[in-house]
Amino acid sequence: MLLHTDRLGLRRFTAADAPAFSAYRSDPAIARYQSWDAPFPLEAATERIRTYNDDPGQPGWFQYAVELTADGSLIGDVGFHLHDNLLQGDVGFTLAPGRHGRGYATEAVRAVLHHRFAGGLHRVSAECDARNTRSRRLLERVGFQLEGQRPAFTFADGEWSDQCLYGLLADQWKRLPH
Ligand SMILES: CC(C)(COP(=O)(O)OP(=O)(O)OC[C@H]1O[C@@H](n2cnc3c(N)ncnc32)[C@H](O)[C@@H]1OP(=O)(O)O)[C@@H](O)C(=O)NCCC(=O)NCCS
Repeated sequence: MLLHTDRLGLRRFTAADAPAFSAYRSDPAIARYQSWDAPFPLEAATERIRTYNDDPGQPGWFQYAVELTADGSLIGDVGFHLHDNLLQGDVGFTLAPGRHGRGYATEAVRAVLHHRFAGGLHRVSAECDARNTRSRRLLERVGFQLEGQRPAFTFADGEWSDQCLYGLLADQWKRLPH
């Protein structure tokens, strides 16, 4: 396990995660504001897992599999993109549909931020569709500041929507009650 919280373990993905990964990514509501299309077949899930970076300390995207400690089930993932300068990152997150509303994603994202800022990171950024209210609430709950909004940036579901730009600096993170 790479990281622990009260209820969760964050670890590398393995080939055995493909069925659960495929299942939650195949939900149209989960895929709506994301980079993949639903359904997300088992073969696509297997291939995606195969390409994931093995080392969270190397530049590039690293995908944490989020596991419920109580029963070991895969309930979602947190993606973290470490920039080449090793000082900045981007974060993204997805939770399986039956697991929403219990603070699991917030807990997992906080664990990743805690670990990354403790490692000397200067800044973490996140972007999301302005209509993605659950994602925006999560980002604001963990301390991200809305830094800007790109009007009519994304074309999805037959309409243009704004893209929200969020940021969190190490100094801001340190001042938050933890
Ligand atoms: C974004 C996403 C992960 C948020 O899921 P979520 O269930 O709202 O997030 P959490 O697991 O952190 O749960 C927070 C909710 O649980 C509630 N909650 C219950 N117990 C809690 C606890 N112990 N701690 C924190 N929140 C708790 C919170 O009040 C909050 O509900 P609210 O927003 O109605 O106030 C989810 O909607 C998702 O996977 N969406 C699809 C993928 C996606 O769009 N990702 C973002 C791309 S930018």
